[in-house]
Amino acid sequence: MLLKIVKATTLAAIATCALNASDFNAQAEKDRLALIKYFEAKFEDPEKNRNTFFPYSTDDELKNSIAKGVKFEEFSKGNYAFNIDGKSQYEELKEMPPYEDAIDEGEELYTKKFANGKSFASCFPNPAIGADYPMYDDKKKEIITLTQSINTCLTSNGEKPWNTKKGNMAKLQAYFASATTDEELKVNVTIPSADAAAAYERGKEYYYSQRGYLKLSCATCHVQGAGLRVRNEKLSQFVGQTTHFPVFRLKWDGLGTLERRVSGCIKDQGQVPPKDNSKEMKELIYFLSYMSNGLTVDGPDIRK
Ligand code: HEC
Repeated sequence: MLLKIVKATTLAAIATCALNASDFNAQAEKDRLALIKYFEAKFEDPEKNRNTFFPYSTDDELKNSIAKGVKFEEFSKGNYAFNIDGKSQYEELKEMPPYEDAIDEGEELYTKKFANGKSFASCFPNPAIGADYPMYDDKKKEIITLTQSINTCLTSNGEKPWNTKKGNMAKLQAYFASATTDEELKVNVTIPSADAAAAYERGKEYYYSQRGYLKLSCATCHVQGAGLRVRNEKLSQFVGQTTHFPVFRLKWDGLGTLERRVSGCIKDQGQVPPKDNSKEMKELIYFLSYMSNGLTVDGPDIRK
């Protein structure tokens, strides 16, 4: 009898586990699908949607500058998904992309031997890993970003860690992004446990919190504000913002990581950005990247 009860309880426990295992991303999936729906509805017909989404746009802008009927697959292009004027300039730049040399240099860094004879290829046997990061490490109970993984590879082989925003870090990531793009892999950020789901929720909270004296949240600009003009820029929609990093920015006259870009936006909110390897920054990037799930990796890329 007792044995029977034990068996039944164990079975029940296993069943609950199995149920939860497929369920940890349930809320995140709800969020992601709701945002896709929101943006597709927004861009379906900007002129018709003026009152709901585009209160400050001019007639001319709504008619001629914002594309109609933009669909999910196009969101990885950032604001060029809908920004008709910007897109032609972007396509001209893409003919001779300023990041080509960086990809080659990244490949050299990938195979170059460390002092101990190993290389990045020892840590990352397959360079097409751009779709899998950030990931949640359930043993360490922390999010591991690509930037962090690269620096861990360096330090565990007796080398100095790199600057997390540009230089070699961005070059190696450009090589990884390009290898991932060549394989047409889709962003696949996973939420494997309840702890991972909690980290996702904290990233989400950061994203939607109003900060600075202007009380802006990331969502003010990239959800409600997507499609609107800020000076001579159009605000990109949240979904698809991480598919193409690192990017070559004309403003930087060089390549930068996602951490560099996000830090810039946090400064624009009037805040001091958290350190790139901090829990806060990694959780924010985890949340951001999950929202690009299902989109094909498309990096490196160019932005103004
Ligand atoms: C005051 C408005 C504003 C706020 C608030 C803001 N951003 Fe931005 N962000 C911009 C502008 C302008 C750009 C450049 C145009 C574009 O791609 O949207 C940009 C670009 C980006 C990009 C690059 C998009 C691409 O296609 O490469 C990312 C990622 C990003 N922001 C993330 C964030 C995050 C995360 C937050 C909150 C911490 C945030 N932004 C807050 C204005 C804002």
